[in-house]
Amino acid sequence: MSPNVAAPLVQRRDADYSGPETEVGLLSVDKASELSPEAQNNISWNLAQWGDRDRWIHEHEYGLRWGGGLQQSPSWMADIASRFLLPHLADRSVRAVLEIAPGAGRFTTELIRVAEELWLVDLSPACIQLCKERFKYYKNIQYSVNDGVSLGMVPDRAFDLVASFDSLVHVEPEIILAYLAQFRDKLAPGGIVWLDHSGRGVKKIGNRSSMTYDRMHRFASDLGFEMLAQHWRNTHDCISVLRNP
Ligand SMILES: C[S@@+](CC[C@H](N)C(=O)[O-])C[C@H]1O[C@@H](n2cnc3c(N)ncnc32)[C@H](O)[C@@H]1O
Repeated sequence: MSPNVAAPLVQRRDADYSGPETEVGLLSVDKASELSPEAQNNISWNLAQWGDRDRWIHEHEYGLRWGGGLQQSPSWMADIASRFLLPHLADRSVRAVLEIAPGAGRFTTELIRVAEELWLVDLSPACIQLCKERFKYYKNIQYSVNDGVSLGMVPDRAFDLVASFDSLVHVEPEIILAYLAQFRDKLAPGGIVWLDHSGRGVKKIGNRSSMTYDRMHRFASDLGFEMLAQHWRNTHDCISVLRNP
């Protein structure tokens, strides 16, 4: 990433930002070991929360088990995609899609509708294994476990869309920024980032992170993305849609 893109981040650092002293270094962070201790704790928390296969099968309400109400319902995923994702794809061809944090594949089912080729990257080996089982007859899916921030395993300038639903809501801004900086390299020119994140900061119920919609706006502009839209999908969570130049 060029230094002239990084510079403004220092001057406009939020007072309540919980990351390290300067955000400049984060633009080149692509390994969890280089993140602040707070961000590494966030990764450990997520791994503990989402790393247990049995909990996914018997307890979590994210698309695998029978029951669980709206959260388990394929029609809810279709509704989210129809309202907030598909309108942004209407006038573009989408060949390769990168999904960050697919869990057990609940929103992946929607991405399969638009992608010719799909790459799934998740922090949890249990989740990637569950996706492999769930989508075993789909030949155009690549699977990777990462350390919570690295995208070195996926090709550069290859993706028309990077998407993540109901996952980065639990992820701190420092990690989101490090992902965004890498998306610049992973997306094809004109490619789209579609990220669901905490929009109004920390919320204990639902374990929402300190991310906000205006911080996302600033990250996007400092990294040179065009902000296409920010959709509130409920009173707290925001889906930001960014375009790579
Ligand atoms: C609540 S689940 C949601 C999964 C899925 N998107 C869905 O809607 O059903 C959160 C997922 O985010 C993944 N995750 C959390 N932090 C992550 C990070 N920093 N990098 C990659 N994956 C992460 C977890 O392993 C888990 O699979």
